Amino acid sequence: APVSSPDLDLCEKSTVTSTSAGTIKVPCCPPKSAKILDFKPPKFSKLRYRPAAQMVDPEYLAKFTKAMELMKALPMDDPRSFMQQANVHCAYCNGAYDNGDPSHELQIHFSWLFFPFHRLYLYFYERILGNLIGDPNFAMPFWNWDAPPGMPIPEIYVDPNSPLYDEKRNVDHQPPKLADLDYSLEENLSKRDQIKSNLSVMYRQVVTNKTATLFLGKPYRAGEKSSPGAGSLEQSPHTDIHKWVGDPRETYKEDMGNFYSAGRDPLFYAHHCNVDRMWNIWRSLPGKKRRDFTDPDWLDSSFLFYDENANLVRAKVRDALDTKTLGYDYQKVNIPWLKNKP
Ligand code: C2O
Repeated sequence: APVSSPDLDLCEKSTVTSTSAGTIKVPCCPPKSAKILDFKPPKFSKLRYRPAAQMVDPEYLAKFTKAMELMKALPMDDPRSFMQQANVHCAYCNGAYDNGDPSHELQIHFSWLFFPFHRLYLYFYERILGNLIGDPNFAMPFWNWDAPPGMPIPEIYVDPNSPLYDEKRNVDHQPPKLADLDYSLEENLSKRDQIKSNLSVMYRQVVTNKTATLFLGKPYRAGEKSSPGAGSLEQSPHTDIHKWVGDPRETYKEDMGNFYSAGRDPLFYAHHCNVDRMWNIWRSLPGKKRRDFTDPDWLDSSFLFYDENANLVRAKVRDALDTKTLGYDYQKVNIPWLKNKP
């Protein structure tokens, strides 16, 4: 059976663990709501295009920072506020939801739920931002880490006076340092070698890993053990980039280096836009093997999110398959790794 959306009344504190500092419990549950709406695709007249973060103009940046500022200014208990939105990730990823069965905590990573969950999460986040600035066509930027000009942390995120800034990041990984898409140890490769390594990671994870199970992740159904196995892109570069950005001085590698805190870094959403973009690219590649799952247990798995009007909405994986139905696409930029067999 499909994984059903969590019962918010049974939400509990989240668990955060590190090998050195042990385990802490943190509150991440969302406000409750007596009413749940079923997701309806938005009505729109033109697609919104999410731009590459390294290419945005000052006018766009002003809008985006305004929206983030307003989101950060919402009262803490507003489900659309910056912290509540960050806590969405914490709750879905650090064991806040078990629907009364502690042996089956919901985990949306390390399985076929990874891509659709994050797509929907970003979708609602973007709608909230657009609503706050009165621009329903507003589209969030993506961190274009798969191409050399986009590999450093985008400049718009590193100004300490900007609402896009987060101080809990690795100070050694500031621009112009290039992200390491295959990060475990500090390698300090030359620029040229880092680019080469990154492009071959991209080719391998998106082009070589063809089937839905290899790319999107392994099946995960109601009542099954969580985390059956991540897809190729979730492992690298997705998780590597989280670790590369997180602050090694922080106990739990906050913010980006831990699920519970990752959503507190505005860069998280740009990172995940690019992850989301990769799902679109993978689907568009030739070959019969690159098809989404058709299993109803995947398609009917569902999640809850608050929308731009603070209504609680139940959305299913099947609602997330096509970004054009959701009203958006990505700015076309050069994809240097596609034909580049390493
Ligand atoms: Cu939900 Cu990038 O992790």
